[in-house]
Amino acid sequence: MIKLQENSTQQNQSPIPDGPREPEWLQTIWGILRPIDYLETMHRRYGDIFLTPKFAGLPPQLVTSNPQAIQQIFTTDPQQFICGSGNRLIQPLVGDNSLILLDGDRHLKQRKLLMPPFHGERMQAYGKLISEIAHQVIGRLKMGETFIARSLMQEISLNVILRSVFGLQEGELYQQIQEVLTAMLNSFDSPISAALLFLKPLQVDLGSWSPWGNFLRQREKLDQLLYQEIHRRQTQLDHLGEDILSLLLTVRDEQGQPMTDVELRDELMTMLFAGHETTATALAWALYWIHYIPEVKDKLLTELNSIDITNVDPMEIARLPYLSAICSETLRIYPIAFFPLARITQAPMELIGYHIPAGTILAPCIYLTHHRPDIYPEPNRFRPERFLERQFSPYEYLPFGGGNRRCLGMAFALFEMKVVLATVLSEYSFTLTQKRPLKPVRRGITFVPSGGVHLSVVDS
Ligand code: HEM
Repeated sequence: MIKLQENSTQQNQSPIPDGPREPEWLQTIWGILRPIDYLETMHRRYGDIFLTPKFAGLPPQLVTSNPQAIQQIFTTDPQQFICGSGNRLIQPLVGDNSLILLDGDRHLKQRKLLMPPFHGERMQAYGKLISEIAHQVIGRLKMGETFIARSLMQEISLNVILRSVFGLQEGELYQQIQEVLTAMLNSFDSPISAALLFLKPLQVDLGSWSPWGNFLRQREKLDQLLYQEIHRRQTQLDHLGEDILSLLLTVRDEQGQPMTDVELRDELMTMLFAGHETTATALAWALYWIHYIPEVKDKLLTELNSIDITNVDPMEIARLPYLSAICSETLRIYPIAFFPLARITQAPMELIGYHIPAGTILAPCIYLTHHRPDIYPEPNRFRPERFLERQFSPYEYLPFGGGNRRCLGMAFALFEMKVVLATVLSEYSFTLTQKRPLKPVRRGITFVPSGGVHLSVVDS
């Protein structure tokens, strides 16, 4: 069992927390298959800071839901941590040059480069596009038709990414990328298949019928499509658009060199991977809660009726208080990622009075922090009003992580969520086909509503 050493220079510290007693293999399986149960059990036993053993070949993790500790982690000089190698799990998806796997100067430079399109005016310009896409996708539904909200929201968010990041218009390539990417991500659809990402020994190519073999083949197909698009656009540098690929094609490093094809591919995969399923899942959860609790829906519709959705500036939608509170509460109660990116200590350090050895993963637990009853009374109750009654610090509320790695797409994702919800709910009425509580289940490294939220279209 691993133990934290209390810093001898600190007085009046609470006793050093123990780590879980179960064997490593059991904790790994428990954490993959029943993550909420695992985290809540450990929290009950050890409180808001405990050390888990090595997991999936990674160093021991210091799991914390203590806002003071989280503040210290997010505000410590990033040079103290390495992030890249702590997140190798997603390397097969995003490649070695992904922003997520970079550290130090390279990370900082690449982040500065990618940031502008996801903020301010550039982002707002996508408002109309997002609303059009939502309208188009939902408009296909017929009265009485039942649909799975997560699949439909995924179609919307993928369209948004393909148009805004890739600058693609609908057509054959667009269709192909959509199909292959969906098939590839479906490789991690269940908690069992998600184990493929976590357990290296399962990553063997036994032909296209084997799970890993199938993933590799889908990835190869997707790579071919991405490289095809990169090469096409490299021949049209005089006709670049406002999209993010256009921007990346024009940047030059200090030696005047453009990004290589592999670097371009890895950043595109990062946006696709980080940006589309996360937002789609958040939207599916929001639709679930809105239809699960009638008062929430009533209040929201009253707010939406106060604006003219067809003529409104999308920024006005983004400022609606109750809609904003619903989005915040959706990401609080079941955050899409339970942990931010792993930060591994490079040298020993002190964290709220404990001496942490080098080579430890510092892991603020988003899920446990969002369920602290001292910060969120009745934490298991969906209550958007809590976000209207008080403000939470970035160390109490962290669905997008924090510090120098805070989600690059945060503003974009929230904007997209609000515009899609407002568009869809102003024009159509839905009802849940099953009125039972939904729980999150693992899909890769994210958590999605089990069954995907079944809704049907009804008369308003
Ligand atoms: C509701 C939707 C989303 C959620 C909940 C979410 C959540 C997160 C979280 C928890 C992190 C880790 C932050 C940390 O370690 O401190 C992250 C990082 C990241 N996200 Fe998001 N994300 C969402 C949407 C997006 C979108 C739309 C994009 C872009 C198209 C995006 C791109 C990224 C990137 C590139 C990083 C890595 C940042 C870095 O390493 O510097 N995400 N996201």
